[in-house]
Amino acid sequence: MRIDALTIFPEYLEPLGTAILGRAQTKGLLEVGVHDLRNWTRDVHRSVDDTPFGGGPGMVMLPGVWWAGLSEVLGLPTSPQDSSETTPSDDVGRRPLLVVPTPAGRPFTQQLAEEFATRSHLVFACGRYEGIDQRVFDAAAEHVDVVEVSLGDYVLIGGEVAVLAISEAVVRLIPGVLGNQRSHEEDSFSDGLLEGPSYTRPEVWEGIAVPEVLKSGNHARIDRWRRDQSLLRTAERRPELLADVELDKADFAVLRS
Ligand code: ADE
Repeated sequence: MRIDALTIFPEYLEPLGTAILGRAQTKGLLEVGVHDLRNWTRDVHRSVDDTPFGGGPGMVMLPGVWWAGLSEVLGLPTSPQDSSETTPSDDVGRRPLLVVPTPAGRPFTQQLAEEFATRSHLVFACGRYEGIDQRVFDAAAEHVDVVEVSLGDYVLIGGEVAVLAISEAVVRLIPGVLGNQRSHEEDSFSDGLLEGPSYTRPEVWEGIAVPEVLKSGNHARIDRWRRDQSLLRTAERRPELLADVELDKADFAVLRS
């Protein structure tokens, strides 16, 4: 997979080269390009924004600068009007995906992370201020897939933190990136439920013992106990998730208890 990100704060994205994401690059499973949007400005002030049409607070990022940057990184025509180039491939995995983090986007979920992980090229556009002129994305959608995504119902200062979060969620799903494949098959959300509690040594810490069942060696009992913990935790913290989970008799029994 290749990930490119355009931002006016490239240093904010340095963690993309660290820890598991860094190792994925060393292993040849990931390439990352971070680009300073100001490289595509044309004026002496290197402006990237202007006041919004229709009035209101804040500044909106300029379509010309964004198109210049995105078209280069995505290999699109230098003019959005030029439709001569790039018929989108039939193979979804090979089509670049332009990801725009914004609080006005669709919620970013594990399911979207799994979809993104099937792509070979993600390009992130990090907006600041009141966002990026919408015409950039409307024009880009003629050439590539575009998705506006939100990390949650709160407002960040810009898209950079969302790029880090989304990249982590996606890259860890690429086969070979995590040492142990089971570790994400058993994650929170992969079965629609929150993950239950985990324990390690010592067996008794500060007078608090690890649940007995986990030391029983009885894997059927352990699996049942873990499922029960997931169900109870989900019912308490995120009850709305249960609507989309297939529950059997044993599940109902624990939820009624
Ligand atoms: N940019 C600002 N707030 C955001 C959010 N909640 N999710 C994604 N990108 C953002």
